[in-house]
Amino acid sequence: MGEKSKSTGIECHARADLVHRLREVIAEMGGFILLGPEHGNLCRRASSGEALEFVGCEWIIEAQGLPNLIHEVVHALFLGRLADDHGFDYGTIPLDIERRDHRQVLWEELACCGVSASVCAPLHTDPQRFVREWFAEQFEIQGVFHGLEHDHPAFCARVDAQISVPARAEELRATVERGHRQLSEAIRRAGGPPLPAADLLAMWRDYRETQLGSARLAAG
Ligand SMILES: [Fe+2]
Repeated sequence: MGEKSKSTGIECHARADLVHRLREVIAEMGGFILLGPEHGNLCRRASSGEALEFVGCEWIIEAQGLPNLIHEVVHALFLGRLADDHGFDYGTIPLDIERRDHRQVLWEELACCGVSASVCAPLHTDPQRFVREWFAEQFEIQGVFHGLEHDHPAFCARVDAQISVPARAEELRATVERGHRQLSEAIRRAGGPPLPAADLLAMWRDYRETQLGSARLAAG
């Protein structure tokens, strides 16, 4: 198992302890983690070779780093099982924000972004800057699911409009809380430490005030 771990980027990770706990969580669900910059960020069925190498694992979660891995694991916990692309139906694009089930897809994405940022923030010398930049990086690839990949201001305005409705903001808050709780409980069962909670609404306000996204898109 040690040799396999070295080849999957886990043993040498700076936070190998937390990665090991995450690996146990995913192993419980029948999956194996491949970690490293050469991988993607996704969940997929294991190839026949991988199924032989990682005995008992039908699924692979790939992640380029710990923050990406946490994002993927929170998706898996929301779904309650491992599945291709966490069970997302690409036929639902563009998502209809007025449909509760479609809106829940956005809330879960934002929860994955927020929990990933909050859990990894203490591992950085400038936690606030990390949260700001990592939240932005994750959020700014979400527009494609809403048919707004070429109109980022419109996507931001859509999120603003949703959050301005108290009932919708509560949906988001509750989803983020559930994501944090599910990850925390899974990590605790695997013998890991408590995890910092995510204040998604504060992250969103900070994102909109600093306009990192708009500045970067305008520059790019
Ligand atoms: Fe995601």
